[in-house]
Amino acid sequence: MSKCFADGLPAGQLDRAPFKFRHALLDHPALAIEGLAKVLPELAPGQVRYSKGLADLRINFDHAHVEHRNGLGLAETIETIRGGNSYIAVSDPQTHPAFRDLYADLCREMTALLRQGGQSKTIHEPRIWLFIASPNAVTPFHFDRYSNVLMQIRGSKEVAVFPNFRPDIVPVDVCEAYMDRQPIDALWRDELDQHAVKFDFRPGDALHIPYTSGHYVKNGAEDVSISLSFFFQTDQTLRWTRAMQFNHRMRRWSKAVGLRQTPVGHSHWLDATKSHALPCAEAVSRMARRLRRA
Ligand SMILES: [Fe+2]
Repeated sequence: MSKCFADGLPAGQLDRAPFKFRHALLDHPALAIEGLAKVLPELAPGQVRYSKGLADLRINFDHAHVEHRNGLGLAETIETIRGGNSYIAVSDPQTHPAFRDLYADLCREMTALLRQGGQSKTIHEPRIWLFIASPNAVTPFHFDRYSNVLMQIRGSKEVAVFPNFRPDIVPVDVCEAYMDRQPIDALWRDELDQHAVKFDFRPGDALHIPYTSGHYVKNGAEDVSISLSFFFQTDQTLRWTRAMQFNHRMRRWSKAVGLRQTPVGHSHWLDATKSHALPCAEAVSRMARRLRRA
């Protein structure tokens, strides 16, 4: 059992604002490029996506591995990543023994923080993602369905984080559709940049990116970047997620009867009610689909 995060984190700020702190995973053997070169080919093929090193904030991050292939195999991509132009994203490496203890340590520490901050009695849906990218690669603007702690292992980058629950940055209907697992278009517009808080991010740094906060990343020029994201849901973010799924499924019906939906994140009572009523919204959606087919 080892410690992952520095002491004294502002646990009460989770999912309200981004904050930077320090992590203690720099020397973890599985996170060195040599460890990754051994582990990645042993994961299921669907867990390792790779593409060209991206250069445009407007690219749809979810489709990059399909729409921007680098034309190489995985072994060659890893071998050439420092001097080449590639981007590798790895989901849930904790299925490999090399990551199991690290995953358990992250879950244990984050659970303690969530209890301390009052957001949650426990952690939900904890996941690890790894990002390995050539110098100067860009992670396009996007938002995630989770609360996130991003940890830098090697190389430097600039991370831009945007406030969450801001319809002028991520429109409400787009956010709700994405939280209901629907595909969405890329969202970047240059004028959004004025709303970013930008963090200089170096090895040993960790950054909390709040739930659904938009963000983009620009890698430094001097080295390959290796970073790890620890994603999770809390009691609060699960409630928000279900309430957004409720809004998304009821949108067409609400419009038809002239009702205006209240966006999520403004009323604890309303969000909780919608979260509990999600099965009803699912039933209404199923019935509407059947009626349309008939
Ligand atoms: Fe992200």
